[in-house]
Amino acid sequence: MTKTALITGVTGQDGSYLSEFLLARGYEVHGIIRRSSVDYRERIAHLEGTPHFHLHYADMSDSMSLVKLVGKVQPDEIYNLAAQSHVQVSFDAPEFTADVDAVGVLRILEAVRTNHLEKTCKIYQASTSELYGKVEEVPQSETTPFHPYSPYAVAKLYGYWIIKEYREAYDMFCCSGILFNHESERRGETFVTRKITLAAARIAQGKQDCLYLGNLDSLRDWGYAKDYVECMWLILQHETPEDFVIATGVQHSVREFATLAFHHAGIELRWEGEGVNEKGIVERVNELTNERVKVGDVVVAVSPDFYRPTDVVNLLGDPSKAKRELGWNPQTTSFEQLVELMVAHDMKKVAADDAAAEIRKVNLAEFLEKGIDK
Ligand code: NAP
Ligand code: GDD
Repeated sequence: MTKTALITGVTGQDGSYLSEFLLARGYEVHGIIRRSSVDYRERIAHLEGTPHFHLHYADMSDSMSLVKLVGKVQPDEIYNLAAQSHVQVSFDAPEFTADVDAVGVLRILEAVRTNHLEKTCKIYQASTSELYGKVEEVPQSETTPFHPYSPYAVAKLYGYWIIKEYREAYDMFCCSGILFNHESERRGETFVTRKITLAAARIAQGKQDCLYLGNLDSLRDWGYAKDYVECMWLILQHETPEDFVIATGVQHSVREFATLAFHHAGIELRWEGEGVNEKGIVERVNELTNERVKVGDVVVAVSPDFYRPTDVVNLLGDPSKAKRELGWNPQTTSFEQLVELMVAHDMKKVAADDAAAEIRKVNLAEFLEKGIDK
């Protein structure tokens, strides 16, 4: 029997990988897109027009559009991935973040109930390690208390609890995957990993002088997005509806990520100074590095513009339950492989783009992440 899946957030990093994953398993895949003035759907462009892949206009802030769409598609599984997903942006747009990331989850649940699908339609909710926030223990597991530490995390906490509530109140098969950071070649360009891999590639090719970052000491448990979407599906195939932590169980700092990314771009870094005065300085370059890059150049600096009012600094997940009950392997792609594949991708991408366009992109990305008032 062909299954039908509805994915919110289909144009995002995870939505694109999940679409590929489900299509390869014979699913009929429906995705929600929202209207914008530019039709920019790079991550799913290769799927558009293929059989079994369908796109529909709707919006997480518009209940009626969701009710009508769920009724039309009659999904067996809903993957609710849509969100304002940038933590720093949630401080600038907290109300919008709450509407989409918190009330949006409720709208999906009610759309399923309104269409009387609560006994047949399973729901996956994209929950997050940000719930642990100002962490109360390390590593974090399904039993660790939550302490959300941003408007984004507080909104996602509502999503987590409303899923649990509907599971208990209406006996619905709805679950949260508490996913730790997962990255890829398709990661948004203002998240720290992709910002670093793109900048390392641009600097190595003489198209950018310096990368400005915020808190270099922040610790994350970084996995590969392509490995993580499998878990979303496994969670919905599990016999009983339960919540799972999905993580690698390995932790690195932003500084370590940058050091390794520059290494793969052909530049060895040494670090000098502390806090806002810390600098990443070129120690050695390989023979492919652009001649503009000299030993002793400062290529990474700290800008307080990228500090957050409250920052989550010690995330490390314990994926034992997912390993045991879902049979999932958290080490399919290692941290080292992840950094290498992201840099290899961005070295090719930057080489293919012209220099002027690259410089415009650096300026735009910094402007967008800092916020227009800074
Ligand atoms: P992403 O790349 O930022 O994608 C977010 C998606 O949500 C995009 O398709 C976006 O559409 C859509 N969206 C935003 N607002 C919407 C609205 N009002 N109506 C309809 N769609 C809307 O995020 P991701 O990294 O793939 O993450 C997927 C989900 O997992 C998110 O819920 C995120 O919070 C959560 N999560 C991510 C991670 C991670 O490390 N990646 C970890 C834990 C949890 P547009 O393309 O139109 O903007
Ligand atoms: N974005 C960004 N830019 N972060 C920086 C920078 C910078 O220049 N410099 C240091 N950081 C630090 C942040 O302060 C944070 O502690 C860490 O790097 C990771 O930041 P992001 O890559 O923006 O990700 P995030 O951890 O805040 O949020 C991501 O992961 C969550 C799961 O833990 C997002 O994908 C969320 O949607 C997701 O829920």
